[in-house]
Amino acid sequence: MSGSFGDSAVPAVATGLDAFRSDVLAGLAAPQKTVPPKYFYDARGSELFDRICEQPEYYPTRTERAILDRFAGDMARHIGRDALVIEPGAGSGEKTRVLLGALQAPRAYIPVDISGEYLLGSAATMREHFPGLDVQPVAADFTAPFALPQSVGGLAAERATRRLMFFPGSTLGNFEPDAARRLLQTFRGMAGREGLLLLGVDLQKDVGVLERAYNDAAGMTAAFNLNLLQRINRELGGGFDPARFRHRAHYSVEQQRIEMHLISRCEQTVAVAGRSFRFAEGETLHTENSYKHTPDSVARLAEQAGWSLCARWSDPRDWFALFLFEAV
Ligand code: TRP
Repeated sequence: MSGSFGDSAVPAVATGLDAFRSDVLAGLAAPQKTVPPKYFYDARGSELFDRICEQPEYYPTRTERAILDRFAGDMARHIGRDALVIEPGAGSGEKTRVLLGALQAPRAYIPVDISGEYLLGSAATMREHFPGLDVQPVAADFTAPFALPQSVGGLAAERATRRLMFFPGSTLGNFEPDAARRLLQTFRGMAGREGLLLLGVDLQKDVGVLERAYNDAAGMTAAFNLNLLQRINRELGGGFDPARFRHRAHYSVEQQRIEMHLISRCEQTVAVAGRSFRFAEGETLHTENSYKHTPDSVARLAEQAGWSLCARWSDPRDWFALFLFEAV
């Protein structure tokens, strides 16, 4: 079941309605039903994701933020002045503000996100915080190479100085290991010669801590997961009743990943875009994985993708780490 999941999560397809429809129909027809997790992030999904990050059980955002607060100066010294910062999957921008605030004279900031609407809002906030900074959002699916704006920071993009790919939030963990390696290769190609990658990754730890993080008491992760069904209803004319599904996240020690599922509470048949899909009681729709890495497994993946490790920063409990890699 894990093999087909990863493959469906990653192909470099267009993200229009047709792609959404065909990905959903293919995923619902698979023996282990699944929907690629990139479809979580419509405007509502992006908002719910920000709420998840505020939950007391969800430690990754807070922990990564603390590492940045503490070590951004050190990171900036490694990175050097005049960097062109590219952020695939840019979110609310809080962590990015810490980084940009520490960097010396960053050339430009290019947030890239699949949710165009949400992206424009966060680009505007970033301009307010850094009035002199050239902020040029790009609406794209970052799992495939995407075009950079024609000119950034007053220079042709291809001539601009050192590029830094900033990929925090442990988003790497949402990719199957093979796909994660391919993604890091894509970033390597985009970063070019002398390019850098600052990568934030959640690490393996006590299973109770991990499972609580993805089953918060306020139900934000559940709402985020169930929003996928509502999005299918809204955009594809789906007939899901979200009340007939419940959220469950559990850690697989064997696979070293949190798995998020939506469990059918009863036997039911759901119509989507003119097709119907039967769910047995207890059958699951597998919506996302969040792989938990070790410092060694991260370094190995990145090295296989053409990066070499420069430095690593962590919190006192070693729950989360930021890695700086340089293109080889
Ligand atoms: N990449 C982060 C993680 O896996 C954030 C994230 C992505 C997330 N999708 C999620 C968190 C769904 C909670 C639920 O932890």
